[in-house]
Amino acid sequence: MTAQLIDGKQISQHIIEQVKLRVEARRGRGKPAPGLAVIRVGEDSASRIYVRNKLKACARCGVNSFSHEVPDSISQPDLLALIDRLNRDPAVDGILVQLPLPGHINSDAVTDGIDPSKDVDGFHPYNIGRLMLGLAGLRPCTPRGVMTLLQRSGIAIDGKDAVILGRSNIVGRPMALELLHAGATITVCHSRTRELPKKVASADLVVAALGKPRFVQGSWVKSGAVVIDVGINRLDDGSLAGDVDFEAVRQRAAWITPVPGGVGPMTVASLLENTLQAAENRDPDSS
Ligand code: GUN
Repeated sequence: MTAQLIDGKQISQHIIEQVKLRVEARRGRGKPAPGLAVIRVGEDSASRIYVRNKLKACARCGVNSFSHEVPDSISQPDLLALIDRLNRDPAVDGILVQLPLPGHINSDAVTDGIDPSKDVDGFHPYNIGRLMLGLAGLRPCTPRGVMTLLQRSGIAIDGKDAVILGRSNIVGRPMALELLHAGATITVCHSRTRELPKKVASADLVVAALGKPRFVQGSWVKSGAVVIDVGINRLDDGSLAGDVDFEAVRQRAAWITPVPGGVGPMTVASLLENTLQAAENRDPDSS
């Protein structure tokens, strides 16, 4: 079997086009364009690229963006003061602080400092709590993007056995909740998990989000499985690799996401959906 590719680039372009049309329609009803504030702390080169992609996508769909680049040396109180200013700014519907943050800043305190109605990353305990309960709210972008990829590819989730590799707050944990709500049976694997290949072999759906290049081997994967690769790892030769050994796994899987061009663009598309959703929630059309 050779897997069908799930084209995240193309699907993300559709989503961005839809957001653009909804932003235009909203403006036609006399509402302002949604506004997204993005804070980048320090000089992490990967963060610089991710933030640039997010700002470019805003421009493509008519979302106003406000970029705040602050030095590594910023103190936690000063960063929280900036967030507080953005919380009170009516032109800002969404606030995103790109992670990781320098060691002297407590990222939990930063997440807690964002107004939950502007938390377009979906990381605030309020929004994570709502996701846990299956209630509407702002949902973390990467897992939301994975769910959109699966839906748009016509891949059923109900009743499937899903194995998630990685338990981060950004991907693994919220991914487990999304898939659980969609009717999958969930196993979350992590650095302490025993017999990992056996667990992967039991899965109809594998989501790899552990940050280790080409970690998931072809021989582990069940024939006909769906494999979603969230990893973006920079190799020594400068090329990118996912968390999955793509060439070997594609020989066994039914569906697979490439890296790049799979989950990555969907994170950005979901961010724009969340920003529009935040604007609509904060300033709804009167009925
Ligand atoms: N760093 C890696 N992924 C993300 C994300 O989805 N949001 C933010 N804010 N930082 C990240």
